[in-house]
Amino acid sequence: MKVLESTKGFKSFYQDKGVVLEYDKKRLKTARQRILRELERTLPLKFIKQGSNILEIGCGTGFVTNYLLKKGTVTAVDSSEEMLKKCKATIKAASVNAPIKFVKSSLFEFYSTKKFQYVVSIRVMLHLKKSDLTKASATISESMKKEGLFMFDVESKSFFKKFFMAVRWTYTKKEVINPQYSKNDLKTAISKKFEIIKIIPYDHAVLILPFYLIAEVSHSEKLENIISKMEKTLSWLPILNTRWFVVCKKLQ
Ligand SMILES: C[S@@+](CC[C@H](N)C(=O)[O-])C[C@H]1O[C@@H](n2cnc3c(N)ncnc32)[C@H](O)[C@@H]1O
Repeated sequence: MKVLESTKGFKSFYQDKGVVLEYDKKRLKTARQRILRELERTLPLKFIKQGSNILEIGCGTGFVTNYLLKKGTVTAVDSSEEMLKKCKATIKAASVNAPIKFVKSSLFEFYSTKKFQYVVSIRVMLHLKKSDLTKASATISESMKKEGLFMFDVESKSFFKKFFMAVRWTYTKKEVINPQYSKNDLKTAISKKFEIIKIIPYDHAVLILPFYLIAEVSHSEKLENIISKMEKTLSWLPILNTRWFVVCKKLQ
Protein backbone atom coordinates (compact mmCIF):
# COMPACT_ATOMS: atom_id res chain seq x y z
CA MET A 1 0.00 0.00 0.00
CA LYS A 2 1.30 3.41 -0.92
CA VAL A 3 1.29 6.37 1.45
CA LEU A 4 0.61 9.54 -0.53
CA GLU A 5 3.64 11.67 0.08
CA SER A 6 3.65 14.09 -2.76
CA THR A 7 3.17 17.58 -1.44
CA LYS A 8 3.40 18.84 -5.04
CA GLY A 9 0.61 16.47 -6.09
CA PHE A 10 -1.54 17.65 -3.20
CA LYS A 11 -1.04 21.26 -4.27
CA SER A 12 -1.74 20.72 -7.97
CA PHE A 13 -4.84 18.58 -7.33
CA TYR A 14 -6.75 21.64 -6.09
CA GLN A 15 -5.93 23.82 -9.11
CA ASP A 16 -8.57 21.94 -11.08
CA LYS A 17 -11.92 23.74 -11.59
CA GLY A 18 -13.91 20.51 -11.46
CA VAL A 19 -12.34 19.45 -8.16
CA VAL A 20 -13.09 22.87 -6.65
CA LEU A 21 -16.69 22.84 -7.89
CA GLU A 22 -17.41 19.46 -6.32
CA TYR A 23 -15.31 19.93 -3.17
CA ASP A 24 -17.98 20.81 -0.57
CA LYS A 25 -20.68 18.63 -2.13
CA LYS A 26 -18.45 15.54 -1.98
CA ARG A 27 -17.52 16.19 1.64
CA LEU A 28 -21.00 16.78 2.97
CA LYS A 29 -22.79 13.76 1.55
CA THR A 30 -23.14 11.47 4.58
CA ALA A 31 -24.14 12.06 8.20
CA ARG A 32 -20.61 11.15 9.27
CA GLN A 33 -19.03 13.66 6.87
CA ARG A 34 -21.38 16.45 7.94
CA ILE A 35 -20.61 15.92 11.63
CA LEU A 36 -16.86 15.83 11.04
CA ARG A 37 -16.98 18.97 8.92
CA GLU A 38 -18.96 20.76 11.61
CA LEU A 39 -16.36 19.79 14.22
CA GLU A 40 -13.58 20.95 11.92
CA ARG A 41 -14.97 24.43 11.72
CA THR A 42 -16.15 24.80 15.32
CA LEU A 43 -13.15 23.35 17.20
CA PRO A 44 -10.80 26.27 16.33
CA LEU A 45 -13.35 28.83 17.54
CA LYS A 46 -13.03 27.56 21.12
CA PHE A 47 -9.45 28.79 21.28
CA ILE A 48 -9.73 32.15 19.50
CA LYS A 49 -10.51 35.36 21.37
CA GLN A 50 -13.14 37.68 19.93
CA GLY A 51 -11.73 40.49 17.78
CA SER A 52 -8.54 38.68 16.74
CA ASN A 53 -6.44 38.74 13.59
CA ILE A 54 -6.49 35.22 12.21
CA LEU A 55 -4.36 33.62 9.50
CA GLU A 56 -5.89 30.70 7.65
CA ILE A 57 -3.58 28.45 5.66
CA GLY A 58 -5.23 26.51 2.81
CA CYS A 59 -8.63 28.21 3.05
CA GLY A 60 -10.09 26.16 0.18
CA THR A 61 -13.73 26.93 -0.57
CA GLY A 62 -14.17 29.03 2.57
CA PHE A 63 -16.06 26.43 4.57
CA VAL A 64 -13.94 27.09 7.68
CA THR A 65 -13.15 30.72 6.78
CA ASN A 66 -16.80 31.66 7.12
CA TYR A 67 -16.74 30.60 10.76
CA LEU A 68 -13.36 32.18 11.53
CA LEU A 69 -14.83 35.50 10.47
CA LYS A 70 -17.16 35.27 13.48
CA LYS A 71 -14.05 35.82 15.62
CA GLY A 72 -12.36 38.68 13.81
CA THR A 73 -10.45 39.54 10.66
CA VAL A 74 -9.02 36.80 8.47
CA THR A 75 -6.10 36.56 6.06
CA ALA A 76 -6.98 33.60 3.86
CA VAL A 77 -4.05 31.95 2.06
CA ASP A 78 -4.26 29.30 -0.63
CA SER A 79 -2.05 28.24 -3.52
CA SER A 80 -5.01 27.60 -5.82
CA GLU A 81 -6.49 30.48 -7.81
CA GLU A 82 -9.69 28.48 -8.30
CA MET A 83 -10.06 27.81 -4.57
CA LEU A 84 -9.54 31.49 -3.77
CA LYS A 85 -12.25 32.43 -6.30
CA LYS A 86 -14.62 29.95 -4.67
CA CYS A 87 -13.70 31.19 -1.19
CA LYS A 88 -14.50 34.78 -2.19
CA ALA A 89 -17.87 33.65 -3.57
CA THR A 90 -18.65 31.72 -0.35
CA ILE A 91 -17.94 34.74 1.83
CA LYS A 92 -19.94 37.02 -0.46
CA ALA A 93 -22.92 34.65 -0.47
CA ALA A 94 -22.89 34.45 3.32
CA SER A 95 -22.94 38.28 3.49
CA VAL A 96 -20.35 38.22 6.28
CA ASN A 97 -19.34 41.75 7.06
CA ALA A 98 -15.90 41.18 8.60
CA PRO A 99 -12.67 42.27 6.92
CA ILE A 100 -10.96 39.54 4.94
CA LYS A 101 -7.83 39.52 2.83
CA PHE A 102 -7.04 36.84 0.23
CA VAL A 103 -3.48 35.85 -0.60
CA LYS A 104 -2.40 33.45 -3.31
CA SER A 105 0.70 31.75 -2.00
CA SER A 106 2.19 28.42 -1.18
CA LEU A 107 2.25 27.74 2.54
CA PHE A 108 5.96 26.98 2.18
CA GLU A 109 6.59 30.50 0.90
CA PHE A 110 4.06 32.65 2.72
CA TYR A 111 5.45 35.41 4.92
CA SER A 112 3.70 38.30 6.59
CA THR A 113 5.26 41.29 8.33
CA LYS A 114 2.04 41.54 10.33
CA LYS A 115 2.28 38.83 13.00
CA PHE A 116 -0.73 36.71 13.86
CA GLN A 117 -1.89 35.46 17.24
CA TYR A 118 -3.87 32.60 15.65
CA VAL A 119 -3.22 30.36 12.66
CA VAL A 120 -5.79 27.79 11.56
CA SER A 121 -5.20 25.15 8.90
CA ILE A 122 -7.79 22.41 8.42
CA ARG A 123 -7.25 19.37 6.17
CA VAL A 124 -3.92 20.72 5.00
CA MET A 125 -1.15 19.55 7.40
CA LEU A 126 -3.05 16.27 7.34
CA HIS A 127 -1.66 15.65 3.86
CA LEU A 128 1.96 16.41 4.67
CA LYS A 129 4.62 13.86 5.48
CA LYS A 130 6.69 14.52 8.59
CA SER A 131 9.59 16.38 6.96
CA ASP A 132 7.14 18.70 5.16
CA LEU A 133 5.19 19.29 8.36
CA THR A 134 8.47 20.40 9.93
CA LYS A 135 9.13 22.78 7.02
CA ALA A 136 5.56 24.10 7.07
CA SER A 137 5.59 24.75 10.82
CA ALA A 138 8.91 26.60 10.55
CA THR A 139 7.59 28.87 7.77
CA ILE A 140 4.25 29.50 9.48
CA SER A 141 5.90 30.34 12.80
CA GLU A 142 7.71 33.25 11.09
CA SER A 143 4.36 35.01 10.61
CA MET A 144 3.19 34.47 14.18
CA LYS A 145 3.40 36.38 17.44
CA LYS A 146 5.26 34.83 20.35
CA GLU A 147 3.04 32.36 22.17
CA GLY A 148 0.55 32.49 19.29
CA LEU A 149 -1.59 29.40 18.68
CA PHE A 150 -1.30 27.22 15.59
CA MET A 151 -4.24 24.84 15.10
CA PHE A 152 -4.37 22.03 12.58
CA ASP A 153 -5.48 18.43 12.11
CA VAL A 154 -3.59 15.22 11.38
CA GLU A 155 -4.43 11.56 11.12
CA SER A 156 -3.53 9.63 14.22
CA LYS A 157 -2.04 6.16 14.08
CA SER A 158 -5.03 3.89 13.62
CA PHE A 159 -4.79 0.19 13.08
CA PHE A 160 -8.43 0.13 12.00
CA LYS A 161 -7.91 2.73 9.30
CA LYS A 162 -4.70 1.11 8.05
CA PHE A 163 -6.49 -2.23 7.82
CA PHE A 164 -9.46 -0.67 6.01
CA MET A 165 -7.14 1.09 3.55
CA ALA A 166 -5.15 -2.11 2.94
CA VAL A 167 -8.38 -3.95 2.05
CA ARG A 168 -9.43 -1.09 -0.22
CA TRP A 169 -5.98 -1.05 -1.85
CA THR A 170 -6.23 -4.79 -2.54
CA TYR A 171 -9.54 -4.44 -4.35
CA THR A 172 -9.45 -1.02 -5.97
CA LYS A 173 -5.75 -0.07 -6.09
CA LYS A 174 -6.84 3.37 -4.88
CA GLU A 175 -3.74 4.72 -3.25
CA VAL A 176 -5.28 6.93 -0.64
CA ILE A 177 -3.79 7.07 2.76
CA ASN A 178 -2.47 10.09 4.53
CA PRO A 179 0.59 9.88 6.74
CA GLN A 180 -0.38 8.71 10.23
CA TYR A 181 1.18 10.37 13.26
CA SER A 182 1.99 9.13 16.75
CA LYS A 183 2.21 11.73 19.51
CA ASN A 184 5.97 11.43 19.36
CA ASP A 185 6.07 11.87 15.55
CA LEU A 186 4.02 14.99 15.92
CA LYS A 187 6.08 16.37 18.76
CA THR A 188 9.39 15.83 16.98
CA ALA A 189 8.03 17.24 13.69
CA ILE A 190 7.19 20.64 15.17
CA SER A 191 9.24 20.81 18.37
CA LYS A 192 11.77 23.36 17.12
CA LYS A 193 9.09 26.02 16.82
CA PHE A 194 6.05 24.83 18.78
CA GLU A 195 4.96 23.19 21.97
CA ILE A 196 1.82 21.04 21.82
CA ILE A 197 -0.70 22.23 24.37
CA LYS A 198 -3.75 20.19 23.43
CA ILE A 199 -4.70 17.28 21.22
CA ILE A 200 -8.40 16.64 20.76
CA PRO A 201 -9.09 13.22 19.25
CA TYR A 202 -12.15 13.01 17.02
CA ASP A 203 -13.73 10.85 14.32
CA HIS A 204 -14.68 7.94 16.55
CA ALA A 205 -16.09 6.16 13.53
CA VAL A 206 -15.52 2.65 14.85
CA LEU A 207 -17.40 3.24 18.07
CA ILE A 208 -20.37 5.03 16.62
CA LEU A 209 -20.42 3.76 13.06
CA PRO A 210 -23.73 1.89 13.54
CA PHE A 211 -25.41 5.15 14.61
CA TYR A 212 -23.95 6.99 11.62
CA LEU A 213 -25.36 4.31 9.35
CA ILE A 214 -28.83 4.46 10.90
CA ALA A 215 -28.80 8.27 10.59
CA GLU A 216 -27.83 7.88 6.95
CA VAL A 217 -30.63 5.48 6.12
CA SER A 218 -33.30 7.25 8.16
CA HIS A 219 -32.26 10.82 7.15
CA SER A 220 -32.81 11.67 10.78
CA GLU A 221 -31.59 15.11 11.75
CA LYS A 222 -32.37 14.34 15.38
CA LEU A 223 -30.06 11.33 15.33
CA GLU A 224 -27.34 13.39 13.61
CA ASN A 225 -27.52 15.87 16.49
CA ILE A 226 -27.23 13.05 19.04
CA ILE A 227 -24.20 11.58 17.21
CA SER A 228 -22.62 15.00 17.04
CA LYS A 229 -22.93 15.27 20.84
CA MET A 230 -21.49 11.76 21.19
CA GLU A 231 -18.49 12.74 19.06
CA LYS A 232 -17.88 15.78 21.25
CA THR A 233 -18.27 13.77 24.46
CA LEU A 234 -15.91 11.08 23.20
CA SER A 235 -13.26 13.60 22.31
CA TRP A 236 -11.45 12.95 25.60
CA LEU A 237 -11.16 9.27 24.77
CA PRO A 238 -7.92 8.71 22.88
CA ILE A 239 -8.77 5.29 21.49
CA LEU A 240 -10.04 4.20 18.13
CA ASN A 241 -10.13 7.71 16.79
CA THR A 242 -8.54 8.49 13.46
CA ARG A 243 -8.09 12.26 13.64
CA TRP A 244 -6.46 14.73 15.98
CA PHE A 245 -7.18 18.41 16.27
CA VAL A 246 -3.85 19.82 17.45
CA VAL A 247 -3.36 23.12 19.28
CA CYS A 248 0.23 24.22 19.71
CA LYS A 249 1.89 27.32 21.06
CA LYS A 250 4.74 29.13 19.36
CA LEU A 251 7.89 28.96 21.42
CA GLN A 252 9.62 32.15 22.59
C1 LIG B 1 -8.27 19.56 1.47
S1 LIG B 1 -8.37 21.25 1.04
C2 LIG B 1 -8.90 21.98 2.59
C3 LIG B 1 -9.56 23.30 2.41
C4 LIG B 1 -10.17 23.91 3.67
N1 LIG B 1 -9.19 24.16 4.68
C5 LIG B 1 -11.28 23.03 4.20
O1 LIG B 1 -11.15 22.45 5.28
O2 LIG B 1 -12.30 22.91 3.49
C6 LIG B 1 -6.67 21.68 0.97
C7 LIG B 1 -6.40 23.11 0.52
O3 LIG B 1 -5.02 23.38 0.65
C8 LIG B 1 -4.56 24.05 -0.50
N2 LIG B 1 -3.12 23.75 -0.67
C9 LIG B 1 -2.54 22.61 -1.10
N3 LIG B 1 -1.20 22.72 -1.11
C10 LIG B 1 -0.94 23.98 -0.69
C11 LIG B 1 0.26 24.74 -0.52
N4 LIG B 1 1.46 24.20 -0.76
N5 LIG B 1 0.16 26.02 -0.10
C12 LIG B 1 -1.05 26.60 0.16
N6 LIG B 1 -2.23 25.94 0.01
C13 LIG B 1 -2.17 24.65 -0.41
C14 LIG B 1 -5.41 23.52 -1.62
O4 LIG B 1 -5.43 24.40 -2.73
C15 LIG B 1 -6.76 23.36 -0.93
O5 LIG B 1 -7.53 24.52 -1.05
